[in-house]
Amino acid sequence: MISSMVMAHLVNQLVFLFVIFHYSIATDTLNPNQSLHDGQILVSAKETFTLGFFSPGRSKNRYIGIWYTMLRPAGQKTIVWVANRRSPVSGTNGSLELNGNGTLTINSMIFLPMPTVTLTNPVAQLLDDGNLVIREADRSKFAWQSFDYPTDTHLSGMKLGWDLRTGLTRNLTSWLSYDDPSPGRYVLSMDHEGIPQVILWSGSAKMWRSGPWNGTTFSNIGERPNAFRLHFVSNKDEVFLMYNTTGTKTVSRVVVDQSGMVRQFVWMESVGMWNNFFYYPKSECEMYSKCGPYGVCDINIWPTCSCLQGFKPKSPQEWALRDASSGCERITTLNCKNMTDGFMTITLAALPETSKAILYTNLSLNECGARCLKNCLCTAYATANNIGVGIGCIIWVTELIDLRMSSYAAQNVFVRLAAADLASISGKSSKESQSKLMVLIVVFSMAPLIITLICFYSWRKKRLMHKAFVSYHQLEKDIRNDELELTQLQWSTLKEATDNFDETKILGKGGFGLVYKGKLAKGREVAVKRLSKNSTQGVNEFKNEVTFIAKLQHRNLVRLLGYCIQGDEKILAYEYMPNGSLDALLFDKEKTLHLDWKTRFHIIVGIARGLLYLHQDSRLRIIHRDLKASNILLDNEMNPKISDFGLARNFGEHEMMTKTRKVVGTYGYMAPEYVLDGIFSVKSDVFSFGVLMLEIISGQRNRVFLSKPHLYLLGNAWSLWNERKVLDLLDPLVDNSFSVIQVIRCVHIGLLCVQEKAEDRPMMSAVVIMLGNDDAPLPEPKTPGFKGIFSTKYDLVSNHTDWHTFNTITLTEQQTGR
Ligand SMILES: *[C@@H]1O[C@H](CO)[C@@H](O)[C@H](O)[C@H]1NC(C)=O
Ligand SMILES: *[C@@H]1O[C@H](CO)[C@@H](O)[C@H](O)[C@H]1NC(C)=O
Ligand SMILES: *[C@@H]1O[C@H](CO)[C@@H](O)[C@H](O)[C@H]1NC(C)=O
Ligand SMILES: *[C@@H]1O[C@H](CO)[C@@H](O)[C@H](O)[C@H]1NC(C)=O
Ligand SMILES: *[C@@H]1O[C@H](CO)[C@@H](O)[C@H](O)[C@H]1NC(C)=O
Ligand SMILES: *[C@@H]1O[C@H](CO)[C@@H](O)[C@H](O)[C@H]1NC(C)=O
Ligand SMILES: *[C@@H]1O[C@H](CO)[C@@H](O)[C@H](O)[C@H]1NC(C)=O
Ligand SMILES: *[C@@H]1O[C@H](CO)[C@@H](O)[C@H](O)[C@H]1NC(C)=O
Repeated sequence: MISSMVMAHLVNQLVFLFVIFHYSIATDTLNPNQSLHDGQILVSAKETFTLGFFSPGRSKNRYIGIWYTMLRPAGQKTIVWVANRRSPVSGTNGSLELNGNGTLTINSMIFLPMPTVTLTNPVAQLLDDGNLVIREADRSKFAWQSFDYPTDTHLSGMKLGWDLRTGLTRNLTSWLSYDDPSPGRYVLSMDHEGIPQVILWSGSAKMWRSGPWNGTTFSNIGERPNAFRLHFVSNKDEVFLMYNTTGTKTVSRVVVDQSGMVRQFVWMESVGMWNNFFYYPKSECEMYSKCGPYGVCDINIWPTCSCLQGFKPKSPQEWALRDASSGCERITTLNCKNMTDGFMTITLAALPETSKAILYTNLSLNECGARCLKNCLCTAYATANNIGVGIGCIIWVTELIDLRMSSYAAQNVFVRLAAADLASISGKSSKESQSKLMVLIVVFSMAPLIITLICFYSWRKKRLMHKAFVSYHQLEKDIRNDELELTQLQWSTLKEATDNFDETKILGKGGFGLVYKGKLAKGREVAVKRLSKNSTQGVNEFKNEVTFIAKLQHRNLVRLLGYCIQGDEKILAYEYMPNGSLDALLFDKEKTLHLDWKTRFHIIVGIARGLLYLHQDSRLRIIHRDLKASNILLDNEMNPKISDFGLARNFGEHEMMTKTRKVVGTYGYMAPEYVLDGIFSVKSDVFSFGVLMLEIISGQRNRVFLSKPHLYLLGNAWSLWNERKVLDLLDPLVDNSFSVIQVIRCVHIGLLCVQEKAEDRPMMSAVVIMLGNDDAPLPEPKTPGFKGIFSTKYDLVSNHTDWHTFNTITLTEQQTGR
């Protein structure tokens, strides 16, 4: 595998040398009256960049472009500049020429504004930073450079922004499509009005903004590693942004792509690919004005949009349909004349849109507030110290747009509110703290009593459990009440279908009972799950399963056909899955049916879609809580179906996280915050999904033996990732027909899903996008959960030999910290 990549690289190099010897004019300069014909190239001094004619994608058109000479993922040119993006040559008879006065032409046509300076002895030279310059042969004068006319790529040393003396702007403009470099919809430009910031445009609409410069970075971009430090210059002559990786080992480029994303790629020598390091906008909350005026976006809660306190949705109907773009309006209008307005402090991830804000460079915060009150247009103010202008303040005189909350929120903004709204807000919060205090007092004074009560309660509960406290009649009534469109099956039918629950018909063991293969009268095959008679927990799981699955319908969820409650028998009938569970196919090395890469990928995508449906698109919104290989069933076309909803919980609109004292699930798949603190959320399902993904890729179980850390799949995947040996993770049973890029991406996505901190993990909606689109940007993964698993914190469970074999566990007293 690796060796084939090395071979490919060698072949590439040979081809390259061949090309140089045959076609190149073997230099980096073009002299007057000399033509560069299609097929010939200029190569920069250190061979970093090449200039020549090329055809993008499936296009037959010819363009003059600059590309990396050696950095060619899968033999593809990485084009960083296109000279004639608007005026392609239709045949291979194109030629680039420099005429006596220093003007470059293609087939005698001028394709970009050319030097206004007159040169006497011009030459055009391709430099090692990818810049094509036109200068006097003796270097006495530089007249023109391609860096002033960027296409979609920002290279190290290139200025993005304005030369205010000449009016020259350097913007990045996306290609129209992979096959067509002509200007697309998306433009990244420096806005030098007001407080300068970088803006991504989609046509005439703003899509994303960098926020103002704070002295070290742009506020919405955040801190970056040293190698990618940005330089920002703003004075009366120039306003521009630059980065400089020259002199470092890092090769990097920033691109505005066809889908409207700004991405920074870094070359990874070990795998011969570009890795997408940063991208913007990073989330839906970073989309410009996602929640409209006075609306606040918070990616950590659902729904993501809400109104600032003191404001209400302008159009409640639209908000109810999750379209918040109309924003919010004041509950009480301001009363400027009476001077009764006041301010509410909010802490935001970044300052609201500043393009129309006013900057005062010599005003303290208090003076700023007073000035805001006097100005009837003023809506908010904030200190400007953190935007790198020294002491100062910003005053907004328009609606506040593009507000975002974040866990690392950093900037205080003082929002003007009418006295009545301020009073109601402070009333609420003081009541809250009062009631919290009351609770504390009560708890402490009554602690002995409470402890007694708890003990009594648990004792009673245990006794009741023995009596199977959910009566079957009640259960049946509950199910009926739910008005499920579910067939009630006769006990006799099921008995017959399974040959009286014959041992030979057992397919496996589900969450709360054995599963049999059955055949109904019409020949239809079914899987029949029978609740173990002595299962107590099972009754609840059974009910869960019936109520949830019956209401859900998706091609990646198993379908329930009917149920039967008769006497003390409780039975469910599902559609039969000829290919059994993923668990059996994946980990049984003796099986003759090996899963090829295409099938594995198909399974991963299917599970992701099923889970997305559960989390977001279904009527119920469900957290599965026990996603694992043995709960994925495969139909005869190898479509994966999520099964076993015994532990699933549905969660309300405003409840994204739930805490339980009873941690049930399967070790190896459970997220750290769930195991340790009992907190489960959609993000703990995402963790399980990530584990599952890595298992599907590697064909190995994520075992958690304390004594055998090398069997810990997440740790293993993380090491290989950092050593850039990702392909070593791939199951050796996968034959050669796999896409290197896809495998690496899948490991990457898997690692993103198993990150230790729940908030770092992507939502399933993002995962589905990442899987469905090879170009969707991926952030760098952080440490996976349980990296410290073999350290002290987990010694509590060291007496379990193989966590994986515990299907359902309840945390011990110590672990829950009760
Ligand atoms: C280029 O060609 C023109 C016309 O053929 C000639 O006048 C000029 O001297 C040439 N310039 C160079 C640098 O050879
Ligand atoms: C190049 O070839 C195309 C057709 O292939 C023709 O239309 C065009 O005139 C040619 N241009 C020159 C400069 O010869
Ligand atoms: C240079 O030559 C081009 C094409 O021959 C002409 O259009 C342009 O005006 C000239 N520029 C100067 C500065 O003489
Ligand atoms: C970039 O950094 C290198 C070395 O640190 C320096 O020589 C070069 O002048 C810098 N380039 C720009 C455009 O600032
Ligand atoms: C760059 O973008 C800015 C803002 O959209 C615009 O004013 C300017 O004309 C653009 N410049 C170029 C060369 O397209
Ligand atoms: C600028 O913002 C970044 C994060 O957004 C922060 O880490 C950094 O400390 C800020 N710099 C200054 C000088 O405030
Ligand atoms: C302003 O205050 C005065 C008395 O304090 C009151 O009569 C008047 O109605 C107030 N005006 C408004 C617009 O609320
Ligand atoms: C800034 O404010 C201080 C005190 O308020 C004053 O002494 C100083 O002259 C002001 N500077 C400018 C440039 O206005």
